[in-house]
Amino acid sequence: MNKPSDSSCFVRWFRDSTPYIHAHRGRTFVVSFGGEALTDGLFANLVHDFALLNSLGIRLVLVHGARPQVEQRLTLRGCQMRYFNGLRVTDAAALECVKEAVGTVRVEIEALLSMGLANSPMAGARIRVASGNFVIARPLGVRDGVDFGHTGEVRRVDAEGIRSQLNQGDVVLVSPIGYSPTGEVFNLGAEEVATSVAVALRADKLLLLTEQDCINLTDNSPIRQITTDEADILLEAQQLFPSDASLHFKAAINACRRGVQRAHLINRRIDGASLLELFTRDGLGTLVSLTPFETMRQADIKDVGGILELIKPLEGQGILVKRTRENLEMHISMYSVIERDGMILGCAALHPFPEESAGELACLALHEDYRGENRGERLLEFIETKARGMGINKLFVLTTQTTHWFREHGFNFADIASLPSSRQVQYNPQRNSKILVKGLATT
Ligand SMILES: CC(C)(COP(=O)(O)OP(=O)(O)OC[C@H]1O[C@@H](n2cnc3c(N)ncnc32)[C@H](O)[C@@H]1OP(=O)(O)O)[C@@H](O)C(=O)NCCC(=O)NCCS
Repeated sequence: MNKPSDSSCFVRWFRDSTPYIHAHRGRTFVVSFGGEALTDGLFANLVHDFALLNSLGIRLVLVHGARPQVEQRLTLRGCQMRYFNGLRVTDAAALECVKEAVGTVRVEIEALLSMGLANSPMAGARIRVASGNFVIARPLGVRDGVDFGHTGEVRRVDAEGIRSQLNQGDVVLVSPIGYSPTGEVFNLGAEEVATSVAVALRADKLLLLTEQDCINLTDNSPIRQITTDEADILLEAQQLFPSDASLHFKAAINACRRGVQRAHLINRRIDGASLLELFTRDGLGTLVSLTPFETMRQADIKDVGGILELIKPLEGQGILVKRTRENLEMHISMYSVIERDGMILGCAALHPFPEESAGELACLALHEDYRGENRGERLLEFIETKARGMGINKLFVLTTQTTHWFREHGFNFADIASLPSSRQVQYNPQRNSKILVKGLATT
């Protein structure tokens, strides 16, 4: 950090993560990880990352597994977990092991989250962890003649209970066990618990920490983004690696179809993987969503903060005129945006002048990292379609530094007289913008 190049890298990296920090603040993320995560040296770092997410204002629910810890205890007692059709059978001895293992794992996680040593990433973190009887379960019962004993399934999640802890800024820790109104304890799958919790909370994200990258076996490429329908096709064709990816994919698909915005499969063996996934441009995990994860759409009031963030540097450079929050809020219906995983990475406005069947294209901007991939062109097409739908046959733009881009996209130089008269009086000669016009053929 002493060399200037290191410090400028740090500053750039920190600044680049700002839009993601804004996009994630106040959002609810459910993170699930297997008991394997506790068994290697990276776990302390993972917990530090959770602490960081919490301090960045993310409402965090952690769901842990405990399979290796349960199996270890069973082995010590000379027993084995029995499986039938891929489902665990939990007899009385196994349930004892589950209770012991889950209790121990929970205490270990709580201890790590309580750390506050000076000179450690946890200094001053003061995280409060809440755990409790948030998951109500019922027995799987007898299936195909097999009694699954104390193996259960989620019956209900006390979303209100979890929310009230999150509202106080607590991290909520949920274990893969559930309680029934009859006072019994049931052994549950961590993925099922995580999915049910995420659905009950209508979480913004479900992060499933996996043991490996997810690979598409048709071309051996890592899967970066996928819709639930595409994931179904891969699952059906068994084109996924590793095989336990299918368990995570099923959880992700299920969560997204039941109202969770996004699910991410992240290889937890990469140190800092969750941070890379959440705070860098392309992440490194697999993003599952119901619809394509980048969308172009009409803006709404919730986008104002993201638009302001996007245009601020361009206003500073004199490329765009300054806009206040109030102005944006008032005219938000005129804006269109490109949104990618909660972040606004492009915007444009169309101000109509109906009396002259004209419209002004304004505030066209792409985030610096996302330029040069035709998004500007697609945003322009989106605005043109919107304009045609409003009966506009002449689109004009005032620009100081982007004339060539507009000329390459069908605009021609024009003079002030070609502007609608009400716009002519607002023309700022000091800014000395060039005026360009494009005729829109009506279909
Ligand atoms: C103009 C802008 C919206 C284009 O978005 P984009 O997604 O990068 O555009 P596309 O991918 O469709 O086009 C990229 C091409 O435009 C060129 N281009 C980008 N800005 C340009 C400019 N100011 N002048 C001339 N050409 C420009 C790029 O060099 C690239 O061409 P190349 O591939 O031949 O090198 C984007 O560059 C931007 O946000 N610029 C800053 C804001 C701005 O100028 N807005 C207009 C205000 S009136």
